[in-house]
Amino acid sequence: MSLKLAFGGKGGVGKTTITSLIARTLAALDKETSVIAIDADPVSNLAAGLGIDETRPITPVAELSDLIAERTGAQPGTMGGFFTLNPKVDDIPDRFSIEKDGVKLLVMGTVQQGGSGCICPESTILKALMNHLVLARNEVVVMDMEAGVEHLGRATSGSVDALVVVVNPGKRSRVAADKIRKLGRDIGIKNIVILGNRVRSEEDRQLIRESMPDYEILGFLPEMEEIVQSDREGERPFDDISTIPKELKEIAQKLMEMSKK
Ligand SMILES: Nc1ncnc2c1ncn2[C@@H]1O[C@H](COP(=O)(O)OP(=O)(O)OP(=O)(O)O)[C@@H](O)[C@H]1O
Ligand SMILES: [Mg+2]
Repeated sequence: MSLKLAFGGKGGVGKTTITSLIARTLAALDKETSVIAIDADPVSNLAAGLGIDETRPITPVAELSDLIAERTGAQPGTMGGFFTLNPKVDDIPDRFSIEKDGVKLLVMGTVQQGGSGCICPESTILKALMNHLVLARNEVVVMDMEAGVEHLGRATSGSVDALVVVVNPGKRSRVAADKIRKLGRDIGIKNIVILGNRVRSEEDRQLIRESMPDYEILGFLPEMEEIVQSDREGERPFDDISTIPKELKEIAQKLMEMSKK
């Protein structure tokens, strides 16, 4: 299975929680394919949701200075000068990810941008890596994006099966969704869908439907005590993935159907 999914949304709506649960669910549903979870949030915390030991430090790809220098031919932190714009990156996902229960976690990290349109060794590696993950790998790739979709570019957009915008019930969620949809459309992502999270009632569902009539709604996930409790205890929710609620399974199934194969 080849499936490329990006999860976006306003701060705190549940992107990381959902990305990790969907990654784990997809890995459990299809044991044949490997699942790569990309942490593209500068304040990364996808490891916890995947149940990966956070005390073991994970070096983000953007901070692998020696590797970046070796692959691009330029020292990170420098700008201008000559360096290759298509560095070798195909070995990075396997070498620098940490695996748990069939999901490999890859942490991207951030590039200190020096002004707009900066082309530096770090951003070149990240871009090449995203392109490779989305275009060249016959795998499931799920991406926990910050509010935007900054790591994705025009080259990859055609291969992104869906940009899932996570929203909570509330009148203001539309504003954030519109912003993300615009970013997604600008780079050419066609399939942009809404996932209502932390929904407590039919009223909540109706609120989301009514405030976003022009969006396709992928589904709704209820407010889950298991998630609240796990968060409190610093554990991953649904440690036994077979115990996840049916809503999550259904959403994972729907996403699988979006696969371009
Ligand atoms: N369906 C749910 N039921 C209960 N709690 C939830 C649910 N989804 C998310 N949460 C809780 O909401 C909080 C925010 O979730 P999460 O960190 O996944 O959001 P985020 O969008 O990734 O946030 P950020 O923008 O800070 O990265 C967490 O405490 C999480 O446990
Ligand atoms: Mg997050």
